[in-house]
Formats: sequence, structure tokens, C-alpha cells
Amino acid sequence: MKRVHVTGANGFIGREVIARLREAGYAVTGSDLRASPDVRALDLRDRAAVVALMGELAPDIVMHGGAISGAMLATDDPALMFDVNVMGTLNIVEAMRRTGTARLVFLSSNAVYAEADTRDPVPEDAPCGAADAYGASKLAAESVLRAYAASFGIGVVALRISSVFGAERVTPYLISQTLDAVRNGAPIEVTDTRSNMRQFVHVSDAARAVCLAVAAVREGFTPVNITGGTYLSEEQVVRLLLAGLPAPALSVIADRGRHDDGRVGPLDISRAAALLGYAPSVDIAEALTALARPIVPAITPTS
Ligand SMILES: NC(=O)c1ccc[n+]([C@@H]2O[C@H](COP(=O)([O-])OP(=O)(O)OC[C@H]3O[C@@H](n4cnc5c(N)ncnc54)[C@H](O)[C@@H]3O)[C@@H](O)[C@H]2O)c1
Repeated sequence: MKRVHVTGANGFIGREVIARLREAGYAVTGSDLRASPDVRALDLRDRAAVVALMGELAPDIVMHGGAISGAMLATDDPALMFDVNVMGTLNIVEAMRRTGTARLVFLSSNAVYAEADTRDPVPEDAPCGAADAYGASKLAAESVLRAYAASFGIGVVALRISSVFGAERVTPYLISQTLDAVRNGAPIEVTDTRSNMRQFVHVSDAARAVCLAVAAVREGFTPVNITGGTYLSEEQVVRLLLAGLPAPALSVIADRGRHDDGRVGPLDISRAAALLGYAPSVDIAEALTALARPIVPAITPTS
């Protein structure tokens, strides 16, 4: 039975990944900033603690998801973004080098790609060059991992995942902001559709891709795009989300720079299909509409 250690174990994606890995028969341990049942406390910034935990647990594979997760976070503290996302990743892979773990799956992001005005598909060799601290931190972390893969034989799959959605997500994004507005009777605003396309992937598909990568990771550094298979304008996403609700009014406003998905073209996922056997399985339109269903009673007049 292979041992997998999951960082970010209490997070939105981490929890789903752990459940699936256990179902698949792996022996899974988890760590996160705060301990919880079955999850060890570990601050990724503390190299000595990371080395000690990796030495103690001796996993075969690490699934590194612990991070400040998104461009909308730590905007007033970019150093925190880099401390956790870059130095935290360095500490993990350095601990692996010292203690003999040779395989890593890293949760990277489509935010590593350079923004482009075209809507051409984006393969993994497309130009990188992140426009914000989050994307830059993921790109820098990938650089660290690429060097460890080349110099120390640590095999890495870096999953460049697009925006992940699902009922359990806690970090703020278009979907939760829209549903909050509906609940509060606030105006629902979507930004200019030409400059802000969305390529969501459902958390169950993202977690399945992670499990496929855990099974497939070999020598070398391999970036792999993961997305849900749709490429929708912000307005299309919001309309799908609100499809089951009584006539919500939308106002389209000028782009205010809300770009938590990055302004990149649709991710080309042919490598994910070829190397991992991944294909999206969740119908995004249905899943979006289903997300809004629980709030219908709250906004339907009772008299
Ligand atoms: N959610 C998305 O849309 C998305 C898309 C692409 C990639 N990712 C990546 O996937 C991973 C998980 O994202 P998520 O959406 O589950 O986010 P999340 O915020 O729910 O989970 C991240 C976890 O990391 C932990 N963490 C933060 N700082 C830490 C530290 N110093 N030490 C140890 N743990 C720390 C948090 O406590 C949290 O449990 C992240 O690496 C993120 O960058 C997320």
C-alpha cells in the first residue's frame, strides 16, 4: 500500500483528494496549518518542522496543496504569498530530498501563464509570465520543483488547474459572490464579457485528476493542464448559476479587473488525457445551476 502525504489537508481540494485517495486504497496522512482529526499541524514556512514531519511519515508520494490559494488573497501582504507558496514548496521538496521521498504532485494554476488577448488554446509550452503575486508564486514554485527534478531525481507532476468550484469552496470568487448577492438582495453585476472568460472545473474532476497524477507521477518535471472543458464569459456563468431562480436582474458593468481565473485562453488538456487518462466528467452548466438550488427557498416570498 503506497503512502501519500497531503499538505493543505483541511482545504477545499485537499479534503476531496484525501477522500478519493483513501477510496483508491492509499495510506494517506495529512497536514495543514491547524491540526484537526487525522491532520497534523504543520506550518509550511517552518523548514525544520517540515523536514521532521517528512522524516517521521516517510511517504512514497507528496501531494502538495497547502498554499495561499488565489490572487484575491493576501493582496496587502504579497510577501506572505511568496513565503507560503514559494518557500513552503521549497521546504517540502528539500525535506523530500533529505528524507528520501522521490515523487511529488503539485497543485499549480493556470495563473502561471502570461495573459493574452487571443482565445487560442493554451498548451503547457505556452509562454508563462504571471501578472500577479499568486501566479508569480506558483510559477516560482514550479521553477524550484523543476530544478529539484533535474538535479535530485525528484519526479514532479505540476497540475496547472483552472478555477475550481463546488459547494464547499471557502475562498471568495465569482460564484460565491453572486450567490451572496442573491441571498442579500444586492445587485448582481457581471463584468465586461470580452476580457474576463471563465474556465471552471468542478472539485470532483479536479480531485480525480490529482489522484490520476498521484498514480502516474514518474521522473522529471511535467506540467499538466487541468480544466473542466468549458470556456464561458462571466455573464454566461452567472446566467447558468441563476437559471433556477426567479428572474434575477443582471447588470453588465465595465471590467473592474476581477480576474481570479487569469485572462488566458482555454487550456489545452490533451496532455492530461494522454498522460493521466483525464477527461472532465461533470456537466458544468448543470453543476452551476445545482449550486444555486439550496438558496431558492431563502429568496422566494412565503405569503
Ligand atoms: N481553488 C482553486 O480554484 C484552485 C485552482 C488552481 C490551483 N489551486 C491550488 O490548489 C491548492 C488548494 O486550494 P484550495 O482551493 O483547496 O484552497 P484552500 O484555501 O481551501 O486550501 C489551502 C490550504 O492550505 C493551508 N495553508 C495555508 N497556509 C499554510 C501554511 N503556512 N502552512 C500549511 N498550510 C497552509 C490552508 O490552511 C488551507 O487549508 C492551492 O495550492 C491552490 O493554489 C486552487
